[in-house]
Amino acid sequence: MSGGVESMLKVAESAELAEGGGKCVEIDNEKILLVRDGDAAYPHAGAPLDEGAVCDGRIVCPWHKGAFRVLDGALLEPPALDALARYPIRLDGDGTVLVSPE
Ligand code: FES
Repeated sequence: MSGGVESMLKVAESAELAEGGGKCVEIDNEKILLVRDGDAAYPHAGAPLDEGAVCDGRIVCPWHKGAFRVLDGALLEPPALDALARYPIRLDGDGTVLVSPE
């Protein structure tokens, strides 16, 4: 069995995530944005997405203003070429945020 709960990594406490905001964490040298709004986690070409805007269901990259949908990481506006990858995430009852790196 792979991708189970045992493979998830503790990356943050939910209290660290502002409502509707994001926080970058690093897993295996890859920056991953945690977004509280959609209980989602995304990476994006190393850009510090947590310094961009998260509003109206969109994530806007601070570097070239590419826009993505929070719900599923879909590309909404160029110049970015691809949608964001999405990683499974789980919030534990004690406020621990876990992400599966797979
Ligand atoms: S690095 Fe994010 S839009 Fe260019």
